[in-house]
Amino acid sequence: PPSAVLTIDGPSGSGKGTISRLVAEKLGWHLLDSGALYRAVGYAASMEGIDLSDAEAVTRCAESTKIRFRDENGETRVIVNGHDASDDIRTETCGAAASAIAAIPNVRTALLEKQRSFRKAPGLVADGRDMGTVIFPDAGLKVFLTASADERARRRYKQLKDKGLSVTLHALLREIQARDTRDAERAVAPLKPANDAVLIDSTGLGIELVVAKVLALLPAH
Ligand code: C5P
Repeated sequence: PPSAVLTIDGPSGSGKGTISRLVAEKLGWHLLDSGALYRAVGYAASMEGIDLSDAEAVTRCAESTKIRFRDENGETRVIVNGHDASDDIRTETCGAAASAIAAIPNVRTALLEKQRSFRKAPGLVADGRDMGTVIFPDAGLKVFLTASADERARRRYKQLKDKGLSVTLHALLREIQARDTRDAERAVAPLKPANDAVLIDSTGLGIELVVAKVLALLPAH
């Protein structure tokens, strides 16, 4: 039988990334950060000077870009066409580029099999927007993680401040709301919970508590 999959979908800043990583560590399962794939394609397209609204050119870029994950000192590095782009892909600019190219249907098709190839024994935690709806519809457990837009903006603000970047809370809130709207309203694979997803609202909850809630939901495997 195919290996176990736990999908964790939700909007940016919901804590998906952190929760997915911790749950994968506790279980000893593989991790798929699907957002990093879209970010990598957005990054590669920008580097190549491709107009992000040129669907055919971006699709060719998605098909040809080589993306690898490499574990280094307990951190996952993202290698794009042989170059370590881990830091570059985390910027808000790259997030916006990812969100723009992610709305192109053929880009999503180009990344489909790559995402499914992460499904390996003993199991996979898949973090994204459409993990439970499109990529792994047969997942044993689907979680949809949310938090209020205000809370997500505050978390992101703190992260960026800690990195020494100067941003305003207000601008971040506006960016988060714009990205949410675009991700939720696009025609292909919009951000929405799978019918059989369990909703967890992490507003006001600590990371460890959310991790415990997810683990408690997991069927025996
Ligand atoms: O999760 P992260 O913020 O890294 O994702 C960046 C962007 O990639 C999202 O705003 C979304 O538009 C897109 N994305 C997607 N489907 C996924 C993961 C990410 O469309 N499974």
